[in-house]
Amino acid sequence: MSKKEDKEFTIEDLPGVGATTAEKLRDSGYDNLMSIATTSPGELVELTGVGENVAKRIIHVARTKLDMGFETGEDILKKREQIVKITTGCKVFDEMLGGGFETGSISECFGEFGSSKTQIAHALAVNVQLPREKGGADGMAVFIDGESTFRPERIKQFSEALGLDSLEVLKNIKIARAFNSDHQMLVAEKVEDLIKEGLPIKLIIVDSLTAHFRADFVGRGTLSERQQKLNKHMHVLMKLAAQYNICVYVTNQVMSRPDVFFGDPTAAIGGNIVGHNSQTRIYLRKGKKGSRVAKLIDSPHLPDSECVFMVTDKGIEDLKIK
Ligand code: GTP
Ligand code: MG
Repeated sequence: MSKKEDKEFTIEDLPGVGATTAEKLRDSGYDNLMSIATTSPGELVELTGVGENVAKRIIHVARTKLDMGFETGEDILKKREQIVKITTGCKVFDEMLGGGFETGSISECFGEFGSSKTQIAHALAVNVQLPREKGGADGMAVFIDGESTFRPERIKQFSEALGLDSLEVLKNIKIARAFNSDHQMLVAEKVEDLIKEGLPIKLIIVDSLTAHFRADFVGRGTLSERQQKLNKHMHVLMKLAAQYNICVYVTNQVMSRPDVFFGDPTAAIGGNIVGHNSQTRIYLRKGKKGSRVAKLIDSPHLPDSECVFMVTDKGIEDLKIK
């Protein structure tokens, strides 16, 4: 017989979380202690309608439960050691990221149109297939395409620049069109089926993460519903990233707000919800002479810095000094 305390502590066991609150939390993607422990009281109040003090207590207890040590330092170290860094193909960009785009978490690129969010997605879809020693993850890519931006011709160009068989590379990219925000959420959930079939998925691209949500929830009345759904969507992605050690790359447009200080990251669509759930955030903008500038924002373990790169026929490249 297992002892009583061996029973898993679920969100229903948190003080003040009844069946209805639990359901609201689950619907918004808060289905485990970790997600609750890392949220803010304001977020919980908004999502569930509980009072601020109750929300604080829920978070406090979730944190204490986690502090009891379900994971040891060694577990975390092992997890960190499993992280693979996928090269962008550009030296300065990789250096800024401490090696490349990481598996195990969500990375977000946000920026205006033409800032190269989609081009980076294509480069990663090719590079993830490279062996580890060449900056890849020996894996396949899933491209959740909400804006019909996937271009096999670009994959062909990028593959050939690396000396790869472009047809083989294309076979290792699974493309799923997403027609609206609900469909996009469903498609993300279905990625797990591919993994369970045994496909070595190491990269999930969502281009664009926010466009459908923005279009489907116009008007202020539906803003909180939009944020809830977006949060749920991101939690699905985060779980896939963590559970299967996958790099999740999402793109996000910025609203054009000339009144806001140039480069203000808060202008990214989805605001706090998206920012809070992305471990790595990169702000992209157009630079001089056709170059692009990438700026790392608030990374937990890397210094804030920026780099300049070019999008060429071959991929994402360093600036060439002429
Ligand atoms: P939106 O999705 O519109 O918000 O923009 P984005 O940030 O996804 O931009 P995208 O990655 O599509 O394009 C960035 C830049 O890449 C473009 O402005 C072009 O300069 C460059 N680019 C796109 N396609 C090609 C191509 O086929 N060849 C070359 N050499 N450059 C390209
Ligand atoms: Mg794009």
